[in-house]
Amino acid sequence: MSRDMCPRPIRDSDWPNVAALEADAYAGSSLAEGRAVLESRGRAAPATCFVLDLDGRVAGYVLALPYPMFQYPDLARAERPAVPSRNLHLHDMVVARDQRGRGRGSGLLNHLTRTAGTAGYDHISLVAVEGKATFWASRGFLAHQGVAVPPDYGDNAVYMSRALTGVRISGATKADRFPCPVP
Ligand SMILES: CC(C)(COP(=O)(O)OP(=O)(O)OC[C@H]1O[C@@H](n2cnc3c(N)ncnc32)[C@H](O)[C@@H]1OP(=O)(O)O)[C@@H](O)C(=O)NCCC(=O)NCCS
Repeated sequence: MSRDMCPRPIRDSDWPNVAALEADAYAGSSLAEGRAVLESRGRAAPATCFVLDLDGRVAGYVLALPYPMFQYPDLARAERPAVPSRNLHLHDMVVARDQRGRGRGSGLLNHLTRTAGTAGYDHISLVAVEGKATFWASRGFLAHQGVAVPPDYGDNAVYMSRALTGVRISGATKADRFPCPVP
């Protein structure tokens, strides 16, 4: 596999493509934030936001930023400067429709997990939307049913988290699809 397929940091020129992926993934739902808000999230924590670059095509992205445990971004507001935390909140991950089911999402998550561990985070949290809780549970995330999530995250949204200490990255085969050094 060429190094061109590695997740890489987001460049200014990537944002239109990131916004297009987001719009396609969440069309017609309250989850779509739009370019300006997405960009504000990415700029708040550039070291933990990546695109999946497939030979020059932006075919996925992951946006993650430090957030105190049990808190999460307000979908209607641009991000404010990041608050230091040892919890990394995986705000959004999207893979282009024609690239799903090939381990791309798992590869992005594994890359993020390695990056987070190296940077000293001890947990990763997220809000599972659109029925994805089982996807995240199979990747080591535990649901916190008692944490309320606002309606604009959609029906059945679930706050979940995973400890990083002592956790092996799942899916070694899929992880090998992204043999990238941690930046
Ligand atoms: C979630 C997403 C990033 C996964 O990307 P991907 O490249 O297809 O992920 P992978 O190929 O690594 O993994 C796919 C696996 O997840 C499973 N999966 C996909 N959607 C699922 C769902 N809703 N519930 C349970 N499992 C699901 C697939 O069956 C497959 O299982 P396997 O690993 O046993 O083969 C992609 O589906 C996507 O972009 N979805 C739209 C945006 C979204 O919902 N993001 C998550 C927000 S919480």
